[in-house]
Parts: sequence; C-alpha cells; structure tokens
Amino acid sequence: MNIEHLETSGTFRLDGGEWDVDNNVYLLSGKEGVYIVDPAHDKQAIIDAVGDRKVLAVLLTHAHNDHCDLVPEIVGHYGAPAYLHPDDDMLWKESNGDATYLPLNDGRHFELDGQPIITIHTPGHSPGCVVFHIPSENTLISGDTLFNGGPGATGRKYSDFDTIIESLRTRVFTLDADTTVLPGHGDNTTVGAEAARLDEYIQRGY
Ligand SMILES: [Fe+2]
Repeated sequence: MNIEHLETSGTFRLDGGEWDVDNNVYLLSGKEGVYIVDPAHDKQAIIDAVGDRKVLAVLLTHAHNDHCDLVPEIVGHYGAPAYLHPDDDMLWKESNGDATYLPLNDGRHFELDGQPIITIHTPGHSPGCVVFHIPSENTLISGDTLFNGGPGATGRKYSDFDTIIESLRTRVFTLDADTTVLPGHGDNTTVGAEAARLDEYIQRGY
C-alpha cells in the first residue's frame, strides 16, 4: 500500500470563530484503487492527485468542517461512499445538512490489496473521532486526535480533554512505539515520541 500526502489550505469554523488552517490529506493507494482520507479545502488539488485511479471510498477522521466540507462534492464526483463515525453526526449536519454518509464504527476494517486499514474510535477532540491503523505500513493516520507535540484541541464544543487522554492512553499509545503517526495538521511523529510526553500533556492540560 502507498500512502500519498498533500496539504491543502482553507478555513476552520466552530462556535462562531474562524481560523486559517492547513490540512493534511492522505491517499491510501494500491492496485485496487484509492481511499481518500479527509479530503479538505481544495477539490481540484485532490482530483489532480487521484488522477484516473478508482476511488474506493472517502474515510473521515471526524466531522469538523475543515475535514468534511468538501465530502458531498467528492462523493458526487466519484460515486464512492463516505464513512464517518455517527457520533459526529451533529457536526456533519452543521456543514453538510442532509447529505448522506455510511456509519463508520470501531473495529471496521477496509481492505486494500489484501492489507487492512483498521478503524479505532478515539473520542475526545470530537465524539466521533477515529484514527486509522495500517499495520502493513506501521502507520497510524491520526486525524486531530494526535499531533506532533500533543493531543487535538479540546477547548471547543463537543470536545473533552479527559476523554482524549483516555483515548490516547488506551487506544493509541498501546500501538508499537515505532508506529509512524500522520496527523490531520502539521508534521509527522511517532507513537513512542508522543507517548513519552503523556504526563506533560496532562500537567499542562492540553
Ligand atoms: Fe478537528
């Protein structure tokens, strides 16, 4: 499996605020086609990156607008389904109204060329946050659950710091320490590098 990366720019909106953000978009590709993870901001850049390959599905780490605004258009363009954890339905509806998605539950496996992409529910940054573990590549696509330097933000609505810490402790930091972490924003890290800083996160409270 190949993991391709592009960075796109746009706006994150929540609780009446607006922030400029750069998002990481990942294409998981193989002989059978491409899964697009979090197609953010720039439809043409994503279409150009996919090229003439078949899109198998859109996988969402959560439904903050910067990650999911474009999804109905991408789904319409490719005729592929989008998957989202249903605990983020209220956030999805804020961006996308009655547009449909398929429910993505903990433990759901997607296959690409015989290798699994495993969904792990990691609430905290939002209730429906998930991460995608790809054992064959020793890689975790972490969305906004884990960044280089700390957990995802928990200061806004539907977020909870104690919940994200519990998700990290029990569901992410139990993976191999040398697992590469590809986050939704910013630079890569590893499970081990961040796990070593868990007490620091807890002490500072973010
Ligand atoms: Fe987010």
